[in-house]
Amino acid sequence: MGKINFNVILMFLFAWLLMSCNSSETQLLVSSPNQTIAVEFSISKIGAPFYTVQFKNKGVIDTSFMSFDFKDVPSLKENFKILKSTTNGVDETWQMPWGEQLDVHNNYNELVVYLEEKTASKRQLNIHFKVYNDGVGFRYELPEQPNLKEVLITDENTEFNLKGDHTVWWIPGDWDIYEHLYSKTKFSEIDGLSKKNHKNLSATYIPQNAVNTPVTMKTDTGLYLSFHEADLTNYAGMTLKVDKDNLKMTSELVGSERLQAKAKLTVPFNTPWRTIQIAEKAGDLIESKMILNLNDPNELGDVDYFTPMKYVGIWWEMHIGKSTWDMEGSQDMNTYTEGKSATSSHGATTQNAKKYIDFASQNGIKGLLVEGWNTGWDKWLASAEDREGLFDFMTPYADYEFKEVMAYAKEKGVEVIMHHETSAAPLTYEKQMDEAYDFMKANNINSVKTGYVGEIIPKGEYHHGQWMVNHYHKVLIEAAKKEIAVNAHEPIKATGKRRTYPNAIAREGLRGQEFNAWATDGGNPPNHIPTVAFTRMLSGPIDFTPGVFNIKFDEYKKGNQVNTTLAHQLALYVVIYSPIQMACDLPEHYMIDGKVHPAFQFITDVGVDWQQTNVLDAEVGDFVTIARQERETGNWFIGGVTNENERTQELTFNFLEEEKKYTAKLYKDAPNSHWNNNPLAYEIEKLELTSASNLKVKLAPGGGFALSIVQQ
Ligand code: NOJ
Ligand code: CA
Repeated sequence: MGKINFNVILMFLFAWLLMSCNSSETQLLVSSPNQTIAVEFSISKIGAPFYTVQFKNKGVIDTSFMSFDFKDVPSLKENFKILKSTTNGVDETWQMPWGEQLDVHNNYNELVVYLEEKTASKRQLNIHFKVYNDGVGFRYELPEQPNLKEVLITDENTEFNLKGDHTVWWIPGDWDIYEHLYSKTKFSEIDGLSKKNHKNLSATYIPQNAVNTPVTMKTDTGLYLSFHEADLTNYAGMTLKVDKDNLKMTSELVGSERLQAKAKLTVPFNTPWRTIQIAEKAGDLIESKMILNLNDPNELGDVDYFTPMKYVGIWWEMHIGKSTWDMEGSQDMNTYTEGKSATSSHGATTQNAKKYIDFASQNGIKGLLVEGWNTGWDKWLASAEDREGLFDFMTPYADYEFKEVMAYAKEKGVEVIMHHETSAAPLTYEKQMDEAYDFMKANNINSVKTGYVGEIIPKGEYHHGQWMVNHYHKVLIEAAKKEIAVNAHEPIKATGKRRTYPNAIAREGLRGQEFNAWATDGGNPPNHIPTVAFTRMLSGPIDFTPGVFNIKFDEYKKGNQVNTTLAHQLALYVVIYSPIQMACDLPEHYMIDGKVHPAFQFITDVGVDWQQTNVLDAEVGDFVTIARQERETGNWFIGGVTNENERTQELTFNFLEEEKKYTAKLYKDAPNSHWNNNPLAYEIEKLELTSASNLKVKLAPGGGFALSIVQQ
């Protein structure tokens, strides 16, 4: 339970003072517990609600109006009066079952404004603000009322009126996919429409100049802002329409042609939280837990059927064209990108699975993902139209002895991860879900990677619309009932629901490593992860699938490569947060001269579940260095990556315990490493560290470093 604190009383007094001074324009104010962020709410002369946000007494968000348009019903927009307002302060700590840290501080002041129309219909709208030391969240709460029952929302118009032409890291407001490269431009130069119809996207729809969230900005005075949403439940995903002339964003919900609207709801309901993270240091955006805090507490209780882990998989080999998903040997990723049929052979065979199991068990990797184990893949990419009923989630291919693989995995202590590619036919999946999850549990499988490649069936729905939001939610709930954890690809964006449903372990929802295997635009540039860390990663765990050692893979594909050094790939295990981290390359690529590659030791050693996380040094799009302490062992791991520019990272270790000595192993770029000219050159250095140590590490262009620190 929250407790009222002194700040809240002050805040309340201030609000009351403002109200009594200016009765024509009532203003309500709520500030963060440390008083740096202030939100002012008011209604205009015509009764239209609006808010502003200040940071350290300087405007961050200028007058921004809030309204709803409905089908066949007048908008909720103006003619409002404030019935009353309430305030409260909360200061509590909760624990993450798995995560970037154990303890999460949840400390905010809140203001709820109760609005009622002055017209005869007297419709009501409550606006709920929560102000944290690291940002602001607000949502609309439509209470039960006589003159508003069922609504078809045609538009939610939440404005974010910026105070300058900030530098923005953005992806377009695609209704179907987040797998775009980030662009860095001035706000006034955002051109989402220029990203239309990217050849490598299996479904993409960009109706207007908008961006997807999280979208991150830097102001001229060096303040960082990031806009997103929290607790996206039974509602459409929010993109932000860009008004370049007025430097303003307005929410643009993802629509549905079947619904002829954006969302269908029954009053009472709450919308997701609209969030604005505010930070003076780029790294503070990453450390913020505001999005999670805005979600409801854990409703599942213990989820110890899921253990954070590293995993290998029959996966990258299909992406680079070594093997195929289907048994007939026609479906690898080249089929998809270049339209030609593969002539390679099936990846998911009993023998191949055993090879991966052996590698995993010998190298401290707990999990194994097998894609292409079940029937249906022969028509996967070929059948653009009729994908309903294509996949079967219970029947293995004839060359994959399911039981034998499971028994072998068990013998070797390896846990198998299920794969369900739905080919964006969620109704087929919903039909089979119950049986498919029972089948998993009967075989001791506790987690599933799902996939939604292609345009959604039924036509007229989009991946990020309300209908699909509800599907993804249903998957989480049904899986939770059977004690199954979910890693969704082509998902809805993360909005912190993992707090409420901690079986939501990770997801894709960005341009992952796979693009390096087949993208026709050259793959992910070296600045990809230094940008992703401050954008996509703010929303939640990422199944990026790091760990490519055969960086150029010329023997498979001359035209594609990974655009980082090998040390950069190692650093990703720390930089990117996920409770599941793949070692995505083929077992043979982790071998050198008949032995396991010396750099693989870092992947074996690195943690996946953290006691605490500190961003040591960072600049959006340029570089990021993160230290994380492993739960249970107390060992520290540090990862740093840079964009195309080389740089020197200075490190101090005051987070280590005083008086103690640590053995450290540094995996770094060689002096002549380079993401393109010399990506494989690396060095390993053994060090002894104390809390007083300092270290300088050189990162090559597109490079990185990884450091493991173990107490002696
Ligand atoms: C796209 C996913 O992102 C990828 O990881 C997977 O291999 C394919 N779909 C096939 O399901
Ligand atoms: Ca994907």
